Amino acid sequence: MDNIAIKVNGLTKIYTQSNKPPVVAVDKISFAIEKGKIVGLLGPNGAGKTTTIKCICGLVIPTEGHIFMEEIDINRNLRFGMSKISAVLEGNRNVYWRLTPCENLAFFAGLQGISYRSVKPYTNKLIELFKLQDKRNTQARYLSRGMQQKLAVACAFVKQTDILLLDEPTVGLDVESSYELRELIKNMAKESGKTVLISSHDMGVVESICDCVIIINKGKIVTDDSISNLFKLFSTSSYRFEVLDKLSTLQKEQIQSQFDLAKIVEKDSQTIIDTELKTHDELYNLIDILKSNGSKIESITRKEPDFEEIFLKIVKNEK
Ligand SMILES: Nc1ncnc2c1ncn2[C@@H]1O[C@H](COP(=O)(O)OP(=O)(O)OP(=O)(O)O)[C@@H](O)[C@H]1O
Ligand SMILES: [Mg+2]
Repeated sequence: MDNIAIKVNGLTKIYTQSNKPPVVAVDKISFAIEKGKIVGLLGPNGAGKTTTIKCICGLVIPTEGHIFMEEIDINRNLRFGMSKISAVLEGNRNVYWRLTPCENLAFFAGLQGISYRSVKPYTNKLIELFKLQDKRNTQARYLSRGMQQKLAVACAFVKQTDILLLDEPTVGLDVESSYELRELIKNMAKESGKTVLISSHDMGVVESICDCVIIINKGKIVTDDSISNLFKLFSTSSYRFEVLDKLSTLQKEQIQSQFDLAKIVEKDSQTIIDTELKTHDELYNLIDILKSNGSKIESITRKEPDFEEIFLKIVKNEK
């Protein structure tokens, strides 16, 4: 338990509204996040990501279940829980609109009991890293949506808590800003050993910065694994051979009879063979067939799935 930053045990949230049927947003989920890890929280719209994050930061009271930080149940000691966490929630209401970026940073540091004097060099560094220098003295309500979002993440960092909860932090950012922000989150979190739980629909963000990923669907966890394991699990045995010239009729017959699903396409002076090869022997057999008529192999490539495909496969199988 020593190296666990957050432990979620049997968390359930049922929203009840008068005249409407109750909604089970989160259904008995349990997971643990190790200290210093960046964990992605993924799932389709309505899966229960925001609800989970809000329960962890004490904004939504769970219907059932417990959330522990350093073995302390945060529902029994919310003040302790809050001292450990900074959160950036969905939408653009994470910062004070009538305060400038500098004032917002000073305010959020102050909430954590950090004096303005001691945090000033850090706020200057954050303003620079998040490229808000030109707007440092402009009220947040006059910043662009992307700048407000960057400021919200900077305000989460300025509190210098051990744990960061980020709900879709890159939403609405342009490609360059999204890339910059994810690199900043990764580098700053790793530098200071922060634990980060980040929800995102951007698979690039998850693939490039997360150590592990928790996938939820309809309020239940369907996967909780490291990114590298998921790639191993879903690694394919699909190969593409590019061969110079056309194949002989005999070669084509041999390939079709030995490799059921092989597709052979002839293009000008090139032949492309797409096939599944499950063993090394199958790979060598195919090479032997090609060699038998002196065909020249230009390239052999193995098709790896991207993270988006992995995510869709997991979620579709769960429907
Ligand atoms: N305050 C609320 N009152 C009633 N139902 C709610 C409330 N907040 C969320 N829900 C419902 O709970 C379910 C989970 O919603 P949640 O916002 O946690 O999903 P999400 O995974 O964050 O989705 P998205 O990817 O769209 O942000 C949805 O069916 C949603 O309609
Ligand atoms: Mg959400």
